[in-house]
Amino acid sequence: MCGIVGYIGSRRVVPILLEGLRRLEYRGYDSAGLVYFEEGIGLRKHRCPGKLAKLTVLMDEFDCHGRIGLGHTRWATHGAPSENNAHPHSDCSGKLVVVHNGIIENYRTLRDELTAAGHHFTSETDTEVLAHLIEEALTDNLAEAVRTALRRVEGAYAIGVLWAEQPDQLIAARNHSPLVLGVQDGGGSFMASDIPALLPYTREIIFLDDGEMAILKEDKYQVLDLDTGMVVEKTVHHIDWNAAMAEKTGFKHFMLKEIFEQPQAILNTFRGRINPESGQVDLPESGLTTHFIEGLSRIVLVACGTSWHAALVARYWLEEWTGIPVEVDIASEFRYRRLLLDSSVLVVPISQSGETADTLAGMRLAAQMGARILAICNVVGSTMTREATGTIYTHAGPEIGVASTKAFTSQLTALFLLTLSLAQSKGTITPDQSLELTQALLALPATIEGELERLCAETETMAESLIKSRDFLYLGRGLNYPIALEGALKLKEISYIHAEGYPAGELKHGPIALIDPEMPVLALIPPDAVHDKVVSNVEEVKARHGRMILVGSHQDPSLRQLSNEVITLPEVHPQLNPILYTIPLQLLAYQIANLRGCDVDQPRNLAKSVTVE
Ligand code: AGP
Repeated sequence: MCGIVGYIGSRRVVPILLEGLRRLEYRGYDSAGLVYFEEGIGLRKHRCPGKLAKLTVLMDEFDCHGRIGLGHTRWATHGAPSENNAHPHSDCSGKLVVVHNGIIENYRTLRDELTAAGHHFTSETDTEVLAHLIEEALTDNLAEAVRTALRRVEGAYAIGVLWAEQPDQLIAARNHSPLVLGVQDGGGSFMASDIPALLPYTREIIFLDDGEMAILKEDKYQVLDLDTGMVVEKTVHHIDWNAAMAEKTGFKHFMLKEIFEQPQAILNTFRGRINPESGQVDLPESGLTTHFIEGLSRIVLVACGTSWHAALVARYWLEEWTGIPVEVDIASEFRYRRLLLDSSVLVVPISQSGETADTLAGMRLAAQMGARILAICNVVGSTMTREATGTIYTHAGPEIGVASTKAFTSQLTALFLLTLSLAQSKGTITPDQSLELTQALLALPATIEGELERLCAETETMAESLIKSRDFLYLGRGLNYPIALEGALKLKEISYIHAEGYPAGELKHGPIALIDPEMPVLALIPPDAVHDKVVSNVEEVKARHGRMILVGSHQDPSLRQLSNEVITLPEVHPQLNPILYTIPLQLLAYQIANLRGCDVDQPRNLAKSVTVE
């Protein structure tokens, strides 16, 4: 996610911006920039692709006396990482600049409208639209111009605005992207995407809420409601975190923070891609034409690790709703076997990083054989996205923890959208079914949000009696079998406890020989078509004195008759159980690893991106 820092006060602004951006580096970025106002000179803007160090070295060449400015680290969403796409972005006059974190969903429409009105664009970004939109509304009241402009904007934003004609103020505004203010008697006024950037200067923090804006001046600030323009009274919070805690916004590990970010990551991934009234899914970036889809003979999903688990789930969805045959392959196997591919095949490499060597190799081989490549990826501008014919981006933001969590549920979200989009193109899904499934997806983030605190506490309690276990068995059926695999992978990769995921129906074909009171068996048992089959499997385990942990519905009375170790969840559309049922498994793995004192964010022997074979 992008990082924003802004300051106005009596101190030199450039060192404050650079130090603030440095403290936001953990958010992940691929370019950096800043702008400041210099008396007698005007605005000075400096931008660099790559790491902040490059910008810092560049700024050493200048003796900057400015006392007001904005800084930005960009996590690319629209337009590859480049100087031209780096923030800040300017209006036509070059006197008004904007930094932004978020996604402007209707930027294409606004850009066309502004171009027709004579505005000249110089970047590929959605952000630049904001600068020209504000310019279009400019009078002598900058705050009003920003309010007018933002009323046209659909999507998520946290922005900072500086205008050379009024260099005594900064404007901040937020909607679905974080932005905090820092205030200090006599010390100036600050804005930032996150608290760590401000801790060296102030611990007095104001959390802007969605639909609010702020006017920051050297010795005062004002918060306004974006809709009404009325003044909003805000609480000033004293923050006593240290810097390390602040980067994780108070969470002990990035993994836990990212588990809690999943509602927002899922929402950001489907944002702007679903028409809530009709249920129509729109994925123009896939580049798949109706003609190609009509001639599609099969789909091949290729990935590694957790991303492979997402592919396994997607197979159920795609075959169920499109009727197209689907193959799923582990990339390191796919790339070494004889591939029978041609131009009628759609190959979908799935990768959080977009840099996994085996997945890239598989993608390249498939492309050489004429297959159509559509990537599912979380990192804009990564190798996979530059080489694929099209990319459907997940918008999970940077995933710092090595164990993939929010990227996984975002991959599932993107694959569910792809399924619906293909089914709608082929006419294999009715409008009512589209509406039912998209409404269920739209409601999912709030459902998950409402369960996270409780699940975190319940899994922490449950973990206490599990930390000495040496083996785990995870069972699931149908759509949730891949989630059993994912739960096992999460546990083994961060707690170093051996764990296996198995189709529940396979129990009798070998694993049942392992059952004993020392090996916990966790079964996913949602209310779906195979629920009673899983109940039978659980009874087989109990008959052999196995220890059962069950994950099922709040409304399922059979669970507590089968085990006293139960995690329950609300009921969602059965097609979405894989996303919901992943959450408690992520948390259970986290709690066990944490209690075992493991390095949860950087587990031994593992890398966040396996860029070698
Ligand atoms: C998942 O928790 C692991 N970090 C690992 O299995 C990962 O999913 C795999 O290496 C694939 O990475 P990618 O999604 O970046 O391609």
